[in-house]
Amino acid sequence: MGERTKTIVAGIAFDSYVMNASGVRDTTLEELKAIADSGSSAVVMKSSTMEPRQGNPEPRYAYFILGSSRGREVQGSLQCMGLPNEGYRKYVKFARIIKTGCGKPVFASVAGLSEKDYPILVGAFQDGEADAIEVNVSCPNLEGKALIGYDFDQVRRILDKIPKQPKPIGLKLPPYLEQRQIQEMADIVKKYGISFITCINSIPNALVIDGTQERPLIRPKKGLGALCGGCIKPVALGNVKMFYDILRGKVSIIGVGGISSGSDAFDFLLTGADAVQIGTCFEKQGPACFARINRELEEILERKGYKSIEQARGKLKFLGE
Ligand SMILES: Cc1cc2nc3c(=O)[nH]c(=O)nc-3n(C[C@H](O)[C@H](O)[C@H](O)COP(=O)(O)O)c2cc1C
Repeated sequence: MGERTKTIVAGIAFDSYVMNASGVRDTTLEELKAIADSGSSAVVMKSSTMEPRQGNPEPRYAYFILGSSRGREVQGSLQCMGLPNEGYRKYVKFARIIKTGCGKPVFASVAGLSEKDYPILVGAFQDGEADAIEVNVSCPNLEGKALIGYDFDQVRRILDKIPKQPKPIGLKLPPYLEQRQIQEMADIVKKYGISFITCINSIPNALVIDGTQERPLIRPKKGLGALCGGCIKPVALGNVKMFYDILRGKVSIIGVGGISSGSDAFDFLLTGADAVQIGTCFEKQGPACFARINRELEEILERKGYKSIEQARGKLKFLGE
């Protein structure tokens, strides 16, 4: 990894700007080992719940090409996984095993099915080997459950109760479509001493139809799923920008949503992200994508004369300035 793309998130040093996103090829120990052996700068684990879950019936994931933009294909994916995972106890063990072998930061991710789960889940990882804990308040696919990140009082109640030491706590956030939601969440982040935010999770309740079959691409929820991939990048960038404008420097921001090239990662860097995560592109291309994306970012930084992430972070220029 090159010197230019070293970064720091929540006080933790990262060897590169690019890591995996929670939920994609990171559910089993074998998958986590493959990420540890890859160019990903960290190992982010699947969101874990109190008990193991099978998740929703298949097909529950679909990859598609939406069209092309500026000479590039725009890909997307639709998922309605329903949090299949092995239960948090397993991930506490996996964190220990992975940590021993790889020397990279390991991030736990937790998803409660009710408010009372969160202190137990976070507490278990606070006592374990993971370096940081991403608290998922944005799981979009649990039928009959409200998306926690849109209910700010519920987020406050959860944050009141979880143990916030010694590992840094981050929030995995849903996409917000209004500035006032960003402001309210940023106030919460500051009030509770949250160390990092990861934005965005997939966009809920999207529908992709196969017109030939006259059917949706996936089976659960009558085809409604959460949208990921290149088609959500503009929404993710907008969220990173709005959060960076309020939080700049005080809270680390991990950008995620539609990144599949160094140029995508550079857009997130200009917008204020301290690091990026890769989901759909990792699912499609496998573990080689991390080193490739980071190498492409290195080349862009070198060409433009930026010597470090710090020099380019948040340096987006605006029309008319
Ligand atoms: C198959 C799949 C499963 C996912 N599972 C989780 C999860 O368990 N926890 C989580 O925080 N995000 C989950 N996500 C969301 C991703 O971490 C990421 O926020 C989203 O896919 C956008 O990134 P991308 O455009 O690079 O895919 C999942 C995404 C996909 C495609």
